Amino acid sequence: MSTAGGDGRKALRSHEWFSGSDVNAFVHRSWMKNQGTPDRMFDGRPVIGICNTFSELTPCNGHFRELAEQVKRGVLEAGGFPVEFPVMSLGETLLRPTSMLFRNLVSMDVEESIRANPMDGVVLLCGCDKTTPALLMGAASCDLPTIVVSGGPMLTGRFRGQPLGSGTSVWAMGEDVRAGQMSECDFRAAESAMSRSPGHCNTMGTASTMASMVEALGLGLPNNAAIPAVDARRRVLARDAGVRAVELVHEDLRISKILTRPAFENAIRVNAAIGGSTNAVVHLLALAGRVEVPLELDDFDLLVRNIPLLVDLMPSGRFLMEDFFDAGGLPAVIRALGDLLHTDALTVTGRTLDENNADAPAWNTEVIRDRDNPVTESAGIAVLRGNLAPDGAVIKPSAASPDLLKHRGRAVVFEGVDDLRARIDDDDLDVDENCVLVLRGAGPRGFPGMPEVGNLALPRKVLRRGVRDMVRISDARMSGTAYGTVVLHTAPEAAAGGPLALVRDGDMIELDVPARRLHLDVPDEELARRLAEWTPPPARATGGYQRLYVEHVLQADRGVDFDFLVGRRGAEVHGHNH
Ligand code: FES
Ligand code: MG
Repeated sequence: MSTAGGDGRKALRSHEWFSGSDVNAFVHRSWMKNQGTPDRMFDGRPVIGICNTFSELTPCNGHFRELAEQVKRGVLEAGGFPVEFPVMSLGETLLRPTSMLFRNLVSMDVEESIRANPMDGVVLLCGCDKTTPALLMGAASCDLPTIVVSGGPMLTGRFRGQPLGSGTSVWAMGEDVRAGQMSECDFRAAESAMSRSPGHCNTMGTASTMASMVEALGLGLPNNAAIPAVDARRRVLARDAGVRAVELVHEDLRISKILTRPAFENAIRVNAAIGGSTNAVVHLLALAGRVEVPLELDDFDLLVRNIPLLVDLMPSGRFLMEDFFDAGGLPAVIRALGDLLHTDALTVTGRTLDENNADAPAWNTEVIRDRDNPVTESAGIAVLRGNLAPDGAVIKPSAASPDLLKHRGRAVVFEGVDDLRARIDDDDLDVDENCVLVLRGAGPRGFPGMPEVGNLALPRKVLRRGVRDMVRISDARMSGTAYGTVVLHTAPEAAAGGPLALVRDGDMIELDVPARRLHLDVPDEELARRLAEWTPPPARATGGYQRLYVEHVLQADRGVDFDFLVGRRGAEVHGHNH
């Protein structure tokens, strides 16, 4: 490669578009100038793409125009040329049938947008759940210098003197209404109190989890996870990230240099210590696949056996993200974990995880515990296996009822979400609190898109007796804000002919989390007979993106990515438009 300018630096990728005096260079520069771009911007300085998931239909990312402005100021301050571009945005609350259906689509949007355009480095603006993995996956496949800015959580919701946690309190109040313990009028009034500021869910749901993963992986600046969206320090972080993005380009610090196996091990352990979402499993597996780092479902269990639960946040615990930030945020957790992490892992600051977080005390040891006084001794996600889940299933024990972690019960089976909704509150349904609720047809291929329905609502007649948890098993996912004794991600899924498809009402199921076992107590010969009789459900998707999805989606134990998207393809581009 040639050198740009007189400083001996390697010519940047954007140079191929913006340098020279031929017709192409004229076209590339001239049209950019119609936005008021001065000629000096094309002098070989780093072009930093700001990948924005702003959308008014993604309320969690509704403040991203301002966040992008802060990043731009940082880029300019450091002598770079900022260019903002939009990608499809994924909001959890409105998108149907489920935002997860589109995570891979957005990752393609991101990957192709980066590769096709003249940028040397990228800032990813991520907030609502799927926006983080989608952007990370796409950027990882391109492998340019990349830094992430998360949007930050909403302020703590407050209703009649009580804190309200996004999602978690909705599920709890919803059950109170169904049990006749809260009026619909009060329920409506709580809406405005819960979401009172910009930002994403303020519980340790998937958005907070993934923002924490960004920080633990080394892809974001310290405190990326927890500064509230409206706090001025969030804007400073965005600005600092803009500065740092320019430096990353000069240092040629590509995302693949950060996303190493030790970085993923750190993320998995931090996820355990913070009581993070089960969704991190599929997202981290998919991300590892993009950068070709070997990572297995079992790693999520084996790597966390000695990790204590240090953070007492909803849905597993009591507090919310604002409390977490005040208590020291993720730096305090990383420091507390200390030698349980690979502290020499390189981060986007150019320094190691240890150097970033060496001076990070916990200011409130109720919210962030010391290692010798954890919330629980063991944390994280348990990976279950057995004849009901040959390729694994997951459960988050910290969100489950301790007395149900070992349970044997009679199966009550639902064929998909519609069947569940139609029958769950029927007083004639043959069910009691000792039964095991089984939901199938909600996996990646079956739904399609693997929605967050795994924490299925309990039958009303059970709720009326004051029961608030039962064992539930499905091939679905669960919202990171949800809780319960819920077995998820069962693989292979029912629609792919997994044993979940063979369960019948009345079969006995054994869950034994300490032994990591999920067993269907039906003889092998009987299961073989049922399998021979089984026919796959008719495909719902006959065309369009959904057809591409069902034909190429991998199972949960492989991260639910598309088979053809696995791998790092780099940012090189061949061919020319003009
Ligand atoms: Fe967007 Fe929860 S709905 S983060
Ligand atoms: Mg969520």
